[in-house]
Amino acid sequence: KRIQLDITKAAQFLSEGAVKAYEPKVKAAQEALENGTCPGNDFLGWLHLPSSITPQFLDEVQAVANTLREKCEVIVVAGIGGSYLGARAIIEALGNSFAWLVGDKANPTIVFAGNNIGEDYLFELSEYLKDKRFGVINISKSGTTTETALAFRLLKKQCEEQRGKSEAKDVIVAITDANRGAARAAADKEGYKTFVIPDNVGGRFSVLTPVGLLPIACAGFDIKALVNGAADMEKATAPNVPFEENIAAQYAAVRNALYTEQGKKIEIMVNYQPKLHFIAEWWKQLYGESEGKEHKGIFPAACDFTTDLHSMGQWIQEGERSIFETVISVEQPAKKLLFPSDDENLDGLNFLAGKRVDEVNKMAELGTLLAHVDGGVPNIRVVVPELNEYYIGQLIYFFEIGCGISGNVLGVNPFNQPGVEAYKKNMFALLDKPGYEAESKAIKERLK
Ligand code: PA5
Repeated sequence: KRIQLDITKAAQFLSEGAVKAYEPKVKAAQEALENGTCPGNDFLGWLHLPSSITPQFLDEVQAVANTLREKCEVIVVAGIGGSYLGARAIIEALGNSFAWLVGDKANPTIVFAGNNIGEDYLFELSEYLKDKRFGVINISKSGTTTETALAFRLLKKQCEEQRGKSEAKDVIVAITDANRGAARAAADKEGYKTFVIPDNVGGRFSVLTPVGLLPIACAGFDIKALVNGAADMEKATAPNVPFEENIAAQYAAVRNALYTEQGKKIEIMVNYQPKLHFIAEWWKQLYGESEGKEHKGIFPAACDFTTDLHSMGQWIQEGERSIFETVISVEQPAKKLLFPSDDENLDGLNFLAGKRVDEVNKMAELGTLLAHVDGGVPNIRVVVPELNEYYIGQLIYFFEIGCGISGNVLGVNPFNQPGVEAYKKNMFALLDKPGYEAESKAIKERLK
């Protein structure tokens, strides 16, 4: 079984044949990716990653995860952007929504750091870790990212103080560049176990490298099934698959058609399962950082339904018609909960008695789809049979390849991110970082 795509409720907003008209462009994009002739072609390592990961490599990742799982009750995953969102997205999608509250005996608690500079956050994290046997996975491809490096310095110190330097060394793992960067230098000096992030895999496409695989395995999920799912989707979206059957090609075509023909500039990723919140965060980064350049690109937004139907629902139904929705629809929940009957029926909900809660959710989903389409919002549906490692693997690769194709069709280099440097330059100048003397002088002058 595979995840499915339904674009009929989006295509009805387009002129006849508009999706099909994208076939040559989509095909050209697929070939350029395949032949390595597209812009950013030194960052195509993700394209055949699922099918090229060996069982031996997964065993190696699993072995390191097992060591951390044995020695730690809490594992802090330090990283930001592409070095953070994929792992969190998958761990939350597959995990118990209350795992961190109920204290899962079988698995360590995974917490995240290095993705912000909140002093309260870091202080509270350090307090939480005080009496815990914790380990750290330090993830940074460049090895120099401020948010992550700052958190890692604090975590390393605390880990060494609590466990002693020699034991700390066994519960700190670095995932970074093969040679460059401060994270590599520290790992080599301290003798940490390390994994390399391949040069040709950019951060936001790196979830199927140890960047995502190690934290996911630490959380107790099956990374082999995850990679299998991705590999099956790699096959199902290969350039030789006919356009009509290739869901990544269809997705890339329909969103570009909505953007250029109908001026739909915002895509809202919608879920009806709160545990998919971070899948949308990961997707936002993937598409936002890949396509938002040269003053072009669909703005990727996200909503959790039905929660946000009580906040953003009004805007979506009746606000400016510049949006379309992509709904991740999960066919089968993992758990079963029947709505009980109540003799008094004070809440008047006995008409739902005996139904699964998911049946109510599904009717909310269908009702919303019809209402939003009636309100002028094109709708794309991504149907996921259930939330397990295999289908999440499929979903991840589907969005990655969809993004590679879509960015090429848009005519940008989807694999760079020159725009993210601007804030860093200003921040370093404001903080008087050595090497930024001229910028410091200039920025302070500007602020006078
Ligand atoms: O997608 C990207 O390239 C970025 O989001 C990076 O992943 C992010 O900036 C973190 O970089 P690094 O892994 O070098 O610390």
